Amino acid sequence: MSSTIPTIPRFKTLISSLKFLRDPLTAIRGNMAEYGHTYRFYIGGIIPATFTADPAFIQHILQKNHRAYKKSPIHFEHLGHFIGKGLLTIDGDHWLRQRRLIQPSFHRSRLASLTHLMNEVIEERLAKFDEEIKAGPVNMAEHMMDMAFSIIMRSIFSISVPEEQVQKMSGQITQIQAFVIQLIRQPYLNWWRALSGKTREHEALAADLEDAIRKMVHQRQDSGENRDDLLQMLLDSRYEDTGEAMNEQQLLDELKIIFVAGHETSANGLAWAWYLLSQHPEALAKIREELQQVVGERTVAFEDLPKLEYLSQVVDEILRLYPPAWITDRMAVEDDEFNGIKIAKGAIVATYIYGAHHSPAHWENPEDFRPERFAKNAKILPFAYLPFGGGPRLCIGNHFALMEMQLVIAEMARRYDFALEPGHEVVPQPLITLRPKDGVWMRFWNRKAYSY
Ligand code: HEM
Repeated sequence: MSSTIPTIPRFKTLISSLKFLRDPLTAIRGNMAEYGHTYRFYIGGIIPATFTADPAFIQHILQKNHRAYKKSPIHFEHLGHFIGKGLLTIDGDHWLRQRRLIQPSFHRSRLASLTHLMNEVIEERLAKFDEEIKAGPVNMAEHMMDMAFSIIMRSIFSISVPEEQVQKMSGQITQIQAFVIQLIRQPYLNWWRALSGKTREHEALAADLEDAIRKMVHQRQDSGENRDDLLQMLLDSRYEDTGEAMNEQQLLDELKIIFVAGHETSANGLAWAWYLLSQHPEALAKIREELQQVVGERTVAFEDLPKLEYLSQVVDEILRLYPPAWITDRMAVEDDEFNGIKIAKGAIVATYIYGAHHSPAHWENPEDFRPERFAKNAKILPFAYLPFGGGPRLCIGNHFALMEMQLVIAEMARRYDFALEPGHEVVPQPLITLRPKDGVWMRFWNRKAYSY
């Protein structure tokens, strides 16, 4: 290995990984202060890994020389075992074939038809929310999780699923994800998890979730109905080479992956939105003004979204300050080199999205909330901003997520006034996604019938 970049000595690895488990953002900040934006370390004292927050290096890994890498088994193997072998968890030819098949369903133009489904969910959930806010402070992290889960559920199946079933499925996914995090973070206890039956228990949960989704797919197929939703788009997709549709297991795996990838990230983005907007009333006022000018009092439509330029800058800035996907990683499948830094076959490279977003080298006063950074024609260094990743494995749901965040923020910003509840600190906690540790506790008040 080259010695051109600093290396955290092996003896420090244990201390540093304990610190990392407790508080990753602070541990990484400390490492970067000592070793710079790119350094080497050994995962568990054994596996060589390179860590980088340098946009040029990140671009090399994710885009320019992506062929030399695959998704790191650290993150994706366990998730694949429990959730399924779909876009997020597969590699190579299998991935490419699935990506080509599924990508068109997520094209911006196809998403137009989902706007009314999203608006329906927003309307229904806010009717409940109107009652809940009367009882006192609400945890927006939870509310946005319910909102995002209902949105992805409705976008897939278009039918309104009973609340108990929504809660059950969302709970199962949360439990499985929490277990996957344990498997990743404390691998030395995995033998015990297998022996004690914990692993089997979570496999059963995953099987139960798959059964529920299978039943819903069968209902659609048996009904003979043709609907304007994600399930229909996936059922109608055909492989280029064979002209055939996905087999049932592949379809179920992709649906589970879309459920998992498609709600917690957006939910966290939305939870951070309310926190940030509560701290920046000037931004909230500008959102409302723009809404009044572009939309007036009707429901926001798909065609309005490109015209809501300031709102879109706000969403970009939320995802810069609190990128829900705060880090990702790859494993080298061959020896590689970037600017003299050697990466051996089998080494892991962690690309630190949060670090690129917060770097004073690429952002003026990076900790400030300034949506104007994303004004039209603003110059942003490639890969200094990558909330949705980059290169061929760019998030397939990026337009979906941006649309969802814009619709939810627009509707709630004009409907409610809100303030952070004193005594509840809002602290970022990076698990698989960057979420507010103890939630975001706030008070909401209904504004009088859309008075701006
Ligand atoms: C604010 C919300 C979201 C954020 C921040 C986000 C972020 C990301 C990132 C960073 C990746 C790439 C990971 C890597 O390169 O290792 C990714 C991949 C992916 N995302 Fe998202 N995502 C969001 C919402 C969504 C939604 C709504 C969906 C689906 C409806 C979705 C589905 C996926 C899928 C299927 C992949 C894997 C794509 C592939 O490897 O081909 N995401 N996401």
